[in-house]
Amino acid sequence: MSKVFSFIRSVFRGEINYKMLKYHLLQRGFRKHNTIGDDDFDWKNYTLHYTGELEVGAKVRTLSLESGDYEFAKGELIQKSSKLPLHNNAQLLYETILLLSPVSILEIGCGGGDNLHNMHVLDNSLELSGVDISKSQLKLLEERHQALSGCTAVRDASSPEFAHRKVDLIFTQAVIMHIGEIEGRHRAALKNIFRTSEHYVVLMENWEKHHFLDDVRAVLSEGIDNWNQYYLYFRESKLNSSTKVMVIANHELDFQPLRDYSQLSS
Ligand SMILES: C[S@@+](CC[C@H](N)C(=O)[O-])C[C@H]1O[C@@H](n2cnc3c(N)ncnc32)[C@H](O)[C@@H]1O
Repeated sequence: MSKVFSFIRSVFRGEINYKMLKYHLLQRGFRKHNTIGDDDFDWKNYTLHYTGELEVGAKVRTLSLESGDYEFAKGELIQKSSKLPLHNNAQLLYETILLLSPVSILEIGCGGGDNLHNMHVLDNSLELSGVDISKSQLKLLEERHQALSGCTAVRDASSPEFAHRKVDLIFTQAVIMHIGEIEGRHRAALKNIFRTSEHYVVLMENWEKHHFLDDVRAVLSEGIDNWNQYYLYFRESKLNSSTKVMVIANHELDFQPLRDYSQLSS
């Protein structure tokens, strides 16, 4: 019952708009529940919810950067325009990626493409690519950021058939947290991520949804090329101490070591 009340509260606070509401009503009422395993969403129909999320988000933050909005200098991403700021998660994620200076980057679950677009605006020398399980999410990406259309592909990150050329760095933002634990699908996705990354994995997720530290250790204990040695780190947002990103590298970094999960999830 408390779930129902918190849902109704979110509708009144404007955190859930009519598109998100419509998605939930269609899921419950007229459509067969179509999620894979115990994933949080039915990805085939998720774009309705996601466009609602984007509309709600755009009222309080900048989703899609333009040149000059932010500058990366002395290891920090600093806002230069008077527009609404980025979401704290995005700011910390982009800053962390830029600190690692990768040449090639893959976003798993790239959705509407704002993260890839923003990384290109911040550093146009980056070789960017993205994959997503949903065709309609990638159609939305093409509508929002036409220039990205050639560098994305439909892929299920948790599939045993997952394949992508190797890149220096892979990142996720709000993706593994939504993949269910039934049949180890969220760990299968992490395994594919490590198999495809040469040096770095950067995760921006809800740390309560899975025990990501146990998951990463379990996946890497199976032995993956390039990842026999690995180092765990986290970075915290200067703007909000509860915003944290997890970084796994196969060489040592000058970041804060992650020794205990409470450093991430508290
Ligand atoms: C909450 S959205 C986040 C999208 C994007 N990362 C962002 O920050 O806007 C989650 C995305 O992950 C994608 N996704 C879910 N499960 C996936 C899987 N197994 N493989 C690849 N993408 C997946 C969904 O289609 C959706 O676009």
